[in-house]
Amino acid sequence: MKRIAILGSTGSIGRSTLSVVESYPERFQIATLAAGNNADLAFEQAVRWKPRVISLATELSSEMLRTKLRGAGLAEIEVVHGAAGTVRVATHADVDFVVSAIVGVSGLEATYEAVRAGKTVGLANKECMVVAGELITAEARKQGKPLLPIDSEHNAIHQCLRGGRMDAEANEVERIWLTASGGPFLHTPKSEFGSITVQQALNHPTWKMGKRITIDSATLMNKGFEVIEACRLFNVPPDRVQVIVHPQSTIHSLVEFVDGSILAQISVTDMRLPILYALTYPERIPSDLRFSLSDLRHLDFYPPDMAKFPCLELAYEAARTGGAQTIALNAADEVVVGAFLEEQIGFEDIPKIIKEVMAATPAAHLESIQEVLRADTEARLLAREIVKQRSRKGLPIRAIS
Ligand SMILES: NC(=O)c1ccc[n+]([C@@H]2O[C@H](COP(=O)([O-])OP(=O)(O)OC[C@H]3O[C@@H](n4cnc5c(N)ncnc54)[C@H](OP(=O)(O)O)[C@@H]3O)[C@@H](O)[C@H]2O)c1
Repeated sequence: MKRIAILGSTGSIGRSTLSVVESYPERFQIATLAAGNNADLAFEQAVRWKPRVISLATELSSEMLRTKLRGAGLAEIEVVHGAAGTVRVATHADVDFVVSAIVGVSGLEATYEAVRAGKTVGLANKECMVVAGELITAEARKQGKPLLPIDSEHNAIHQCLRGGRMDAEANEVERIWLTASGGPFLHTPKSEFGSITVQQALNHPTWKMGKRITIDSATLMNKGFEVIEACRLFNVPPDRVQVIVHPQSTIHSLVEFVDGSILAQISVTDMRLPILYALTYPERIPSDLRFSLSDLRHLDFYPPDMAKFPCLELAYEAARTGGAQTIALNAADEVVVGAFLEEQIGFEDIPKIIKEVMAATPAAHLESIQEVLRADTEARLLAREIVKQRSRKGLPIRAIS
């Protein structure tokens, strides 16, 4: 029986993980859960799964949850809160496997501490790898534990890499191909980008996901983060990670080997499959998540339009420099995506503000999670300041060049 902690249990990945656990009660058991502010769903999950510990983001919501659980006769469930609460959930002695699925850097400390505590970690939270990938992978190596990607592209690459060697003695991998659906604006002319609405940007063609990752998919920043994530997870330089637009999202990613062979992973577009793969690795077990090859008609591929989607180029730049630049990239993106969702800025302002924050961030390599978090706070403040300054001057953010 594998005992599981879910960081971000109320989110899209968290709920999909619970659905996988539900399907295999003989294999998996929920040990601990961590959520943010959705106290009602956290209560439902606590009643259904009876975790040892559950954490919420704030003291107030955890107090309310504790009271409700007492009322439901579940006073034995420990309710904690905040960053320390999430760390407790991730490092609990009764946990074997941690699903890291909190959105943004809020999940960083707990993910790092889970690795440090020798837990096997299934990584959905790509921001952790973007801001602190070097530190996390070094710690996982030290612990001798795998980091298992849940992000569908990296999960596909992980599967394809089982087809060749990539170790100290032999490197048979030529290149990693990351597929991109292209998002909702693949065929939208650049001249129309200025009038893109929040609703249009949230309408992803193939995946149903949280809001931030959906907007990041529309700008292709999500693909940029995935480039950085791939470099760090699989220890390859950015020039050997190539993005290819594949609108059908049938192939989740590919690996090209030195002999010219290319392995691709095909499956349904359902996150329960990469979650199941990570939870059962190195085994594969039967599932009903079938892909019908006979329904397949087209597999189209073309290079991404870097001029139309400047976020992708910004991510490559950050990947080449590393350290504080990738932290600035992620922090600024989180701030500006939030501002876009609140309709404070336009779609085209997103890369412009991120570029400004990156340009103002000195190159540095960070040695600890605390330093990473400090650099993240600084970049975030800077991004907010740019937004604020512009609105104080009464200028539309759209005017930033
Ligand atoms: N969804 C996908 O298909 C997909 C695919 C690949 C990778 N990912 C990555 O997986 C991560 C999660 O994505 P998602 O789509 O599941 O996001 P989501 O639906 O927005 O869920 C985010 C989760 O994080 C929790 N959370 C937010 N702030 C928190 C805090 N301060 N402390 C504790 N918990 C907090 C939320 O709790 P509340 O809701 O209770 O506030 C929620 O459970 C992201 O990094 C994303 O890039 C997602």
